[in-house]
Amino acid sequence: MNFKDLAELAADAKDRPILSLFETPGRATQFSRRFDGLYFDFSKTNIDDKTMSALLSLAQNTDVAAKRDAMFSGALINETEGRAVLHSALRAPDSVEIRVDGEDVMPGVVATRNRMADFTKDVRSGTFTGQGGRITDVVNIGIGGSDLGPVMGVKALSSYHDGPKIHFVSNVDGAHIADTLADLNPETTLVIVASKTFNTIETMTNATTARDWMAKAVSTPGDQFAALSTADDKTAEFGIAPERVFGFEDWVGGRYSMWGPIGLSLMIAIGPDRFMEFLHGGAAMDAHFRQAPLADNLPVLLALVGIWHHQGMGYATRAVLPYEQRLERLPAYLQQLEMESNGKRVAMDGSDLQTASGPVVWGEPGTNGQHAFYQLIHQGTAIVPCEFMIGAKGHEPELDHHHRLLVANCLAQSEALLKGRSLEKARELMAAKGFKDGELERQARHRVFPGNRPSTTLVYDLLTPYRLGQIIALYEHRVFVEGVILGLNSFDQWGVELGKELAIALQPVLDGKASAEGKDGSTRALIDVIQSA
Ligand code: F6P
Repeated sequence: MNFKDLAELAADAKDRPILSLFETPGRATQFSRRFDGLYFDFSKTNIDDKTMSALLSLAQNTDVAAKRDAMFSGALINETEGRAVLHSALRAPDSVEIRVDGEDVMPGVVATRNRMADFTKDVRSGTFTGQGGRITDVVNIGIGGSDLGPVMGVKALSSYHDGPKIHFVSNVDGAHIADTLADLNPETTLVIVASKTFNTIETMTNATTARDWMAKAVSTPGDQFAALSTADDKTAEFGIAPERVFGFEDWVGGRYSMWGPIGLSLMIAIGPDRFMEFLHGGAAMDAHFRQAPLADNLPVLLALVGIWHHQGMGYATRAVLPYEQRLERLPAYLQQLEMESNGKRVAMDGSDLQTASGPVVWGEPGTNGQHAFYQLIHQGTAIVPCEFMIGAKGHEPELDHHHRLLVANCLAQSEALLKGRSLEKARELMAAKGFKDGELERQARHRVFPGNRPSTTLVYDLLTPYRLGQIIALYEHRVFVEGVILGLNSFDQWGVELGKELAIALQPVLDGKASAEGKDGSTRALIDVIQSA
């Protein structure tokens, strides 16, 4: 089985109504899986038995199981950076041994985790104070993986918050930090500088601005700063004492880092015990991914559905649609996870990729998206596979009628995508409204839903820290499996480098200290317009 065979299967499937697959009794059971409080339904896709076994053999032929084991063993599978990939160690139980280059990394992981917990307890209890007393506000300054994970997690688990208020600054646009700091008291604010490299220009610019802001009111601002980084030398240079520096190793990629020090803001928000539950959820998904047969393995199944839709059927994008307001940043988080990991045109061995790279991932929480872009999803010419998510319960029992409406909307959308509405039915509706002849036909055509549009639904009971941990690890491993099948390295991100280099080179030009000579005509004109405004 290879990508050419997959394309042939997809060509056969193009005209097959998904609804017809439900004529086989038991389809919903056969094309769904349960694991530890999660239910993944992929029966509303155009995958039948034959497609499923072809996809599974693709996973076998590309050595998914062996590569998964290599990742967990600490092998240097990030070959373009010469690194292991062991973010799973950050959520592993204290008692296990995980070796990189022969050395057990777990004592270091556990020691840092314990230091984070001690610091968190001090901040939450008021043992650690600012110049003006107990910490009321925490500002996490970071970008990309040093922002999206914590910001997503803090919002997702807001019903568990019992610590200080948490704020996030990521954009180098001064508006972001100005608006965030405007209402804060520097004397009771803790600033966390989250940067794996401690070198990212956006983060370091914001961190310096925050330190200047604090210095106006606080005699030793460095005392109200903490750092989350792999670069001890740079954190010391910035003036942050080692006891408030929480380090991690280069085998944790930025977009996979919220399980360790980068998750400090989340730990401060919900407390160390809840944070541990989040880690346990991730560890449970790791165990499932390592042990379950490929055909019952949730990350593998999500990956195969993704490969079928994008590389097989040729659908360009994937919408992630959580029916859970608190998961409002999940689409952005998954966008980085998928697009920074698998948005690559070169295979691990340096050759051209033999198929399309990973898809565009986007989305918004339901029901808001329904009143924005679902029009295109239902009636546009592009087919967008939709990945719905819904909790069986919400955290507001007193507002249960809201939740039932939310669930009804979620299920209605996947049903509408599956079944659509025929021209015949639309004609009946228009006739009932009194339309006749040509006008009836014209109006009816606007009301047709082609249907036969694929979707999956992930159901969980309640969005607890444990569930969130499971869901995030599920998606991490899904992206890994997709990357293995595509034959690329999901753990580097060379594609962000060129823009960074050019931005640094443009700064002296914008400062008026260097000429724009050598720049292309468009860039020169844009510089002129901006400088003369
Ligand atoms: O955008 C590139 C990137 O390297 C991401 O992978 C990373 O999450 C982000 O920048 C932030 O990097 P750092 O944590 O080193 O500041």
